[in-house]
Amino acid sequence: MHEVFMRRCFELALQGAGMVSPNPMVGAVLVREGKILAEGFHAKHGGPHAEAALFHNYPDTDLSGCDLYINLEPCSHTKKLTPPCAPEIIARRVSRVIISNIDPNPQVAGNGIKMLEAAGIQVITGVLSDEGEKLNEIFFHRMRTGLPFITLKAASTLDGKIALNNGESKWITSQESRLDAHYGRLLHDAVMIGAETLRRDNPALTVRLPHKTLERQPYRLILTASGKIPKDVQVFTDEHRHRTFVITHEETRIDFLPPQQVIRLSTLRPFPFEELYQKLSQLGIHSLWLEGGSNLHTLFLAHKQVSKVQIYLAPKIMGQGINIFDFKLPDIASLIEFQNTEVTTIGSDIKVTGKFHH
Ligand SMILES: NC(=O)c1ccc[n+]([C@@H]2O[C@H](COP(=O)([O-])OP(=O)(O)OC[C@H]3O[C@@H](n4cnc5c(N)ncnc54)[C@H](OP(=O)(O)O)[C@@H]3O)[C@@H](O)[C@H]2O)c1
Repeated sequence: MHEVFMRRCFELALQGAGMVSPNPMVGAVLVREGKILAEGFHAKHGGPHAEAALFHNYPDTDLSGCDLYINLEPCSHTKKLTPPCAPEIIARRVSRVIISNIDPNPQVAGNGIKMLEAAGIQVITGVLSDEGEKLNEIFFHRMRTGLPFITLKAASTLDGKIALNNGESKWITSQESRLDAHYGRLLHDAVMIGAETLRRDNPALTVRLPHKTLERQPYRLILTASGKIPKDVQVFTDEHRHRTFVITHEETRIDFLPPQQVIRLSTLRPFPFEELYQKLSQLGIHSLWLEGGSNLHTLFLAHKQVSKVQIYLAPKIMGQGINIFDFKLPDIASLIEFQNTEVTTIGSDIKVTGKFHH
């Protein structure tokens, strides 16, 4: 039974996708005698946490005999935008709290559970913890490493090509795969491409999902060394243009953008990943969705900067074309291998995801 209510927490949590970063996605369910009394989720960064949203929906102050399900340990610290949740759970006399994951945030890290237990509340942890970890993989990664979570996404033919040599690439994969990739964009703070993809494809790089209206779109990042960036493309002219940044060298001329939309790095060779991540962090960007092309993929993968790959393979062959990656390994023992792989079919394609543990 715990699993059923925890799965409901995950479903609720997902309603905050794209809106809560850098916070985790969290859902909460209040149950009495096997029946759901109330639900809540964290809908927006700076807004009420899932537990607070639930209590708002169900203002009864005596919840003795009730179980509270929540996919992340309730917070106990006060240095944040909203009041801590554990004291409120205690004040309402919830009998039992069932949790999927302990919050790795050093300011919580078991303290929320200790506070509940000290007040005599029974706490059960670890319910569907692998699923809970997967749901909030971006948050857990940042908390544990201090680094952005970087997903490399590509749409490829079976023979590893992402475009014809003349740059034509629309479309390699099915509509279903392309829709799924929009969901991936939604989960990340920024979508990043190389300048050649901008010049050839003029992509919008926005999240477009049916039945989902977004209050904010992910940032869009364009990497260039030359500064040869067309200014009449969608990312610089549409309604989200103020959320597009160019990443380049200190001395590259980019005249048409306000200076605050140009991220200037001290060097491009070797590529200063750490400097970039610091600058992105100052903008509130803690996760990247790399969307090509080959040069950008190769830069990040070859330097072991990728946390996860998400590759859609169409059952098609291109022959000559642009490779998904373009680097040379010294020997077969050096093959780059993923862990936690998942292979599923989507539309007419195969979706492969895998993680790197560097
Ligand atoms: N099927 C797919 O999933 C998919 C996805 C995306 C793109 N594509 C296709 O891929 C093709 C483009 O791929 P591509 O490999 O030629 O180009 P790309 O990776 O999109 O862009 C390469 C450009 O990025 C900039 N860049 C790369 N490394 C850099 C570094 N270390 N420092 C600074 N700037 C750097 C440079 O821009 P400057 O030249 O301005 O200096 C470089 O020319 C297009 O045809 C597109 O349609 C396919």
